[in-house]
Amino acid sequence: MSENKQRVSRRQFLNYTLTGVGGFMAAGMLMPMVRFAIDPLLQPQTEQDMVQVVSVDKITNEPQKFDFKIHQIDAWYESDVSTSAWVYKNDNGDVVALSPVCKHLGCAVAWNDDPANPNRFFCPCHYGLYEKDGTNVPGTPPMAPLDVFESQVKDGYLYLGKAKPRGGA
Ligand code: FES
Repeated sequence: MSENKQRVSRRQFLNYTLTGVGGFMAAGMLMPMVRFAIDPLLQPQTEQDMVQVVSVDKITNEPQKFDFKIHQIDAWYESDVSTSAWVYKNDNGDVVALSPVCKHLGCAVAWNDDPANPNRFFCPCHYGLYEKDGTNVPGTPPMAPLDVFESQVKDGYLYLGKAKPRGGA
């Protein structure tokens, strides 16, 4: 009568046991680190709230710069960030709120700041120009119009949200 049963040697038993315990401990240490690293990706994206900026009766047909703060969440870091918008009423009486960030390399644009180009937004960094509605003037460095803030008028106040490129791009 032959014995076909395979026997596990003491050395193999120790190898299996140590490998199993080591793997278990490594997984226990790595899981929290992996979870910590990818946690921001697992969080649901929250839409930025609209922020009250100015009373509508202070908005004129001439673009004015209004400063406000937005609450920003960047991964684990939450902060209130100061920003601003160029705001005016167009010929139809609609409120327009343009981002002051130049679409060339991100300098701040200003309204009516260049005597050679009245009634235009001017970027002093590389002589960028935009029309009153934010359209970039051909032949100047910016290749796209100024971003437009999401806006809403409620109870006599202007609320602004995110500045978005035109055409939803
Ligand atoms: S950053 Fe505005 S023109 Fe270059």
